[in-house]
Amino acid sequence: MTELHGQRLLVIGGGRGIGAAIAERARHEGMDVVVGAREPSTIEGAVRIDLTDEASIAAAAEQLGAVDHVVTLGSLPHDVPIAELDRDRIVAAFEAKVIGPMLVAKHVEIRRSMTLFAGVVGWRPGPGSTVKGVTNGAVDFAARHLAANLAPVRVNAIAPGVIDSGAWDSKGEAKSGFLAGAAGQTLVGRYGDLDDVVEAAIWLMRSGFVDGQTIHVDGGRR
Ligand SMILES: NC(=O)c1ccc[n+]([C@@H]2O[C@H](COP(=O)([O-])OP(=O)(O)OC[C@H]3O[C@@H](n4cnc5c(N)ncnc54)[C@H](OP(=O)(O)O)[C@@H]3O)[C@@H](O)[C@H]2O)c1
Repeated sequence: MTELHGQRLLVIGGGRGIGAAIAERARHEGMDVVVGAREPSTIEGAVRIDLTDEASIAAAAEQLGAVDHVVTLGSLPHDVPIAELDRDRIVAAFEAKVIGPMLVAKHVEIRRSMTLFAGVVGWRPGPGSTVKGVTNGAVDFAARHLAANLAPVRVNAIAPGVIDSGAWDSKGEAKSGFLAGAAGQTLVGRYGDLDDVVEAAIWLMRSGFVDGQTIHVDGGRR
């Protein structure tokens, strides 16, 4: 039994990837886990939350009542050159990472902690990643400001480097080359795995004296 045993966790974006791994580990820790997902019908015990839709957040908050911790991982990337930017997709990217989590803070009664998800691209500008970079950078500030406003509820962010979460599987045969390149850009000489990020998320829920921080889980890439 750990100190998290019996505490209630809402994982938004917990249906796959890093979020699903956090949900699984939290259950193993004895937490009462609820997944928030856009399509909850395929996920056992999930509630519908679409971070681009405030009404869905308010309805889920009403249904759930108080939770001890929230981890929010939603991401709607729009990785294109500046000339190809689409206004609606920029807005959606901000809704998933920044605006949606702020509305979660507005509606959901949180007792202990909230963890947002940024990403190393926020600190490593490059061609075609402007929206991802700016939204991830904004998450860092959102965590600080939400921490000050929700106190004593703690609010932090995790900024992963490249993690083999399943999100890169769409690269097909190019995936292994991509991951090898990402590994070569870190100080530790490897890309990240799910456990690297899950450990950070569990640690943040336990760490009652860590607040308003972004924890960089990127092998030194930043
Ligand atoms: N993997 C990496 O290398 C990496 C690197 C840096 C940062 N990160 C960040 O880490 C987080 C998790 O990454 P991942 O690799 O697990 O990504 P992923 O597999 O693409 O998962 C993204 C999650 O966001 C959910 N989501 C998207 N739009 C949403 C919305 N409007 N409302 C609610 N949920 C929504 C998705 O749910 P659906 O199933 O409904 O689509 C999915 O569960 C993301 O914020 C990502 O930016 C990942």
